Amino acid sequence: MKTLTDPHGRSFSYLRLSITDICNYRCQYCLPDGYQKGESTRFLSADEIENLVGALAGLGLWKVRLTGGEPTVRKDFAEIAARVSSVPGISRVAATTNGYKLAENAHLWRNAGISAINVSVDSLDRRRFADITGHDHLNKVMDGIKAAQDAGFEKIKVNTVLLRGVNDHELGAFLAWIRSEAISIRFIELMETGSNKEYFTRHHIRGQEIGDQLKALGWSEMAREPGAGPAQEFQHADYQGQIGIIAPYSKDFCNTCNRLRVTATGNLRLCLFGNGGHSLRHLLRHRDQREELQATVAGLLLQKAPTHLLHFHQTGTTPHLAALGG
Ligand code: 5AD
Ligand code: SF4
Repeated sequence: MKTLTDPHGRSFSYLRLSITDICNYRCQYCLPDGYQKGESTRFLSADEIENLVGALAGLGLWKVRLTGGEPTVRKDFAEIAARVSSVPGISRVAATTNGYKLAENAHLWRNAGISAINVSVDSLDRRRFADITGHDHLNKVMDGIKAAQDAGFEKIKVNTVLLRGVNDHELGAFLAWIRSEAISIRFIELMETGSNKEYFTRHHIRGQEIGDQLKALGWSEMAREPGAGPAQEFQHADYQGQIGIIAPYSKDFCNTCNRLRVTATGNLRLCLFGNGGHSLRHLLRHRDQREELQATVAGLLLQKAPTHLLHFHQTGTTPHLAALGG
């Protein structure tokens, strides 16, 4: 059987699948002017998604993350989650959301088979949150996180993009939050994309700066577990929660790459910051195209580059992360 490996010794067990480019937020670093409707785009249907995931599961892939844009703007989000989680071989379905609908839907989505959820919270200050996202939703999102805890999600992660001069003085508030909450906060280094160059220059902070502050506060770095993603994890005996730092500009970041990315229109992207995509959509129409789809994906992985070129400001063809899900 073909498996999903590349020529650089990496194997791929995890699919990040964008199911829509649309987002209702206007995060300053991502969609500052809001989602712009392009020519009519037809996103992958639940059937196409099931065919894709079924084929990849046949190649040993076992984890799927539903992302966007904002995946929960899709009316069939729960159905997609249920379909993906019932594919044989898929043992983990996760979702990344801005949390605007989480309070009302946490139980429904948990019952649809989503077991892990990542919620974006860039500030714990209500006004600043509104400033960053364009919506005064901090309380609603925090209620969503509580609802997700009640609904029994096994792991709640909070994504916080580090922004110099915007939220970099909030470390204390984030730490106070997780002293008694088993939440894992991921501080994500701001990434340069095709459309945020100026914002990036003004607000980028290295993850290492936060790592150094954590160490000074008595946090210790944990050993990387096999199969773990690119986050550098920290723990502290006085805290229930954990911290992860995601620093794409750090040396060796790409060595642990274990994920495939597929856009909402069915393009395989070999790297978040690579050039162009490879359309798989024509192979998602019928179940009986499975073998051809598998051979195509396995063949494309042979072209995967060893590392991104962000250090040289080559951001690839990604205009912003809403176009393919962080
Ligand atoms: N750099 C870093 N993180 C980003 N995200 C969106 N755009 C960027 C960027 N340019 C984050 C979102 C979300 C996660 C999926 O990716 O805030 O938390
Ligand atoms: Fe939407 Fe996420 Fe982009 Fe914010 S970062 S605009 S929530 S896709």
